[in-house]
Amino acid sequence: MTAARPGGRSGSGGPTLGGFTAGQLIRLCDVVGLEPADAEIYARVLIEALGPSAKRQLDRPPPSESLLSDDHTPVEFSLSFLPNAVPTLRLLLEPGCGARGPTQSGRTGLRVVREMAQRWNFPTGQLDELEDLFFPSTAEGPFALWCALELRPGGVPRVKVYLNPAASGQEHSAGTVREAMRRLGHQRAFATLPEADGYPYFALDLGEWDTPRAKVYLRHNDLSAAEAGRLPRMSPGPGSAETEAFFRTAAGLRAGAGKDTVPGGRGVQSCHAFTETASGLASGCTLYVPVRDYVRHDGEALARAEDVLERRGMDTAPLLRSLEAVTSRLPQDGVGLIAYLALTQQHGRPPRVTTYISSEAYAARPPVTLPHHQVEMVH
Ligand code: TRP
Repeated sequence: MTAARPGGRSGSGGPTLGGFTAGQLIRLCDVVGLEPADAEIYARVLIEALGPSAKRQLDRPPPSESLLSDDHTPVEFSLSFLPNAVPTLRLLLEPGCGARGPTQSGRTGLRVVREMAQRWNFPTGQLDELEDLFFPSTAEGPFALWCALELRPGGVPRVKVYLNPAASGQEHSAGTVREAMRRLGHQRAFATLPEADGYPYFALDLGEWDTPRAKVYLRHNDLSAAEAGRLPRMSPGPGSAETEAFFRTAAGLRAGAGKDTVPGGRGVQSCHAFTETASGLASGCTLYVPVRDYVRHDGEALARAEDVLERRGMDTAPLLRSLEAVTSRLPQDGVGLIAYLALTQQHGRPPRVTTYISSEAYAARPPVTLPHHQVEMVH
């Protein structure tokens, strides 16, 4: 199939969205030690999942105003680090990015996920169970379905889907999340969640996971470091000091420096992951800090990421190499390449650090030129 040739160019010569992002992916696969044959498979999977948008030339505007990344590239990469291990490469994408609106986008997304399920032979029962909630006959934006692939050796990824709790109306987001959890057998889960300023995503693990998770994402505006430390609602929970320290480092808040809260803007997000229904409590919690909102340029974001990784004895070299795999620009020459830093605490597993890496297929944001003490005021 010629359309799926990784790195391929469209008829009229310029780089295409599919070719460009597949090239980045192939280089990233090399960074994390995936075999070239697996890299080829995953590059094709990416191109096929993007559908007709893959062939779109990059000198045209993005296929839609995708919320998935700042420049509307419908693809984002991430590296997930554990101590003493090569990081795992993951790929987030919006299969319905070329659709005219959220209803159509959702249909395309569902079709692509179901094709993946057939190909890799995993059930979609949990997703089917929630279809009416997240894919109403007229869906509201700002997105309908994203799909994340964890790229394992062997060419068969682990699959996750991200759904929009506001699909049936922003005012119904909380109710939609509560009902989704109830249908999946997590009747008591919703009541255990911390207070939130919004419910941006609901996610499901599909396919071959040891313990598939249903995940609820919450938005927290104007969060203080102490509040961040208290967010995880797990039993036994992680100590608040570790979460708080991560938050401070990622957000650039120095302990004792007076300022303890990050400015509004996009806000910090948390995700509670539920794997068993007995206790009602989450078995994992992730804190996502949009580091790009709190730095002048990616050199600073990189330093924070390195700090977070080094404190846990994790190797920073793959992160540096992966930035070079996606772009030739220097970190100081823009901001947004490192989109988020995240810390995941899970029962029975060591904490995991994830760095989200933008494709910047369409644009890179210029660095902020204000003096550092004013950075907070630009949002
Ligand atoms: N770009 C969106 C945002 O910044 C969605 C998104 C992409 C996101 N990757 C993410 C959200 C990682 C949380 C964590 O919100």
